[in-house]
Amino acid sequence: MATKPPTTDIRIGAELIRRRKGGIPLVCLTAYTYPVARLLDPHVDLLLVGDSVAMVLHGHETTLGASLEMMIAHGQAVMRGSARACVVVDMPAGSYEESAEQAVASALRIVDETGCQGVKLEGGVDMAGQIAAIVAAGIPVMGHIGLLPQSVERDGGYRIKGRTDETVAALMADARAVEEAGAFCVVIEGTVEAVAADITRSIAIPTIGIGASGDCDGQILVIDDMVGLTVDRVPKFVKEYADLRRVIANAAERYAADVRDRTFPAAAHVFSNSKASSSKDVGDEA
Ligand code: KIV
Repeated sequence: MATKPPTTDIRIGAELIRRRKGGIPLVCLTAYTYPVARLLDPHVDLLLVGDSVAMVLHGHETTLGASLEMMIAHGQAVMRGSARACVVVDMPAGSYEESAEQAVASALRIVDETGCQGVKLEGGVDMAGQIAAIVAAGIPVMGHIGLLPQSVERDGGYRIKGRTDETVAALMADARAVEEAGAFCVVIEGTVEAVAADITRSIAIPTIGIGASGDCDGQILVIDDMVGLTVDRVPKFVKEYADLRRVIANAAERYAADVRDRTFPAAAHVFSNSKASSSKDVGDEA
């Protein structure tokens, strides 16, 4: 496929996202590939190259299957397809938890090798040192609190947060720690609605909800869930805006029938030996 990279003078940066607190809701989606980034870029404020890529595109059981190399490769693809949105790349499990030094080295590598606008990491009070160190190194950080997919094995599954007084207090402390450490916005995932709304009112950086609250400053969904490509269980918080499972299965069924009864390829899809067209590209020839 011939590629024409999109161009624009205006790239939304982390500071612009931060200033949208309390304004028109921020539209965010995950993206992992060049063509999807091109399709989404005109419509969103932020594209997240989430470590959900390990599950969605690579078939791993959890996001723990993501590596720094995997995130960088997908970050590069999304940056090639995006000209306008703020692109944030997830830091995979194992690339930042050990120390502030490890976190800065990994974040620098992600930004140097992709050119993205920021990185995201999971954790609140426990990761405030890492967030502060990455921000001090000049790299914008998106926080992520509430249900943390990188911790599902430790937590014993995908458990909704904020159902006890103790966890509500811990979530509020996490949100404040992420804000004080200098994050430009924070994802709140899988959290009781009223708690996510309360956090949104209590901190000065935008909150981006996923299974959280309509009162958050923005919303994010995994692109494959949103377009109906997810083949296994679709979470309750997802609204499917398309049914690509059906579209793809139907196309594959019709293609298989055409190949088997030799109606594909037809005359329009094969090449003649005409001299007039011998200098044309494969894609140009009528
Ligand atoms: O990896 C991811 O897709 C995410 C979103 C769910 C926020 O972290």
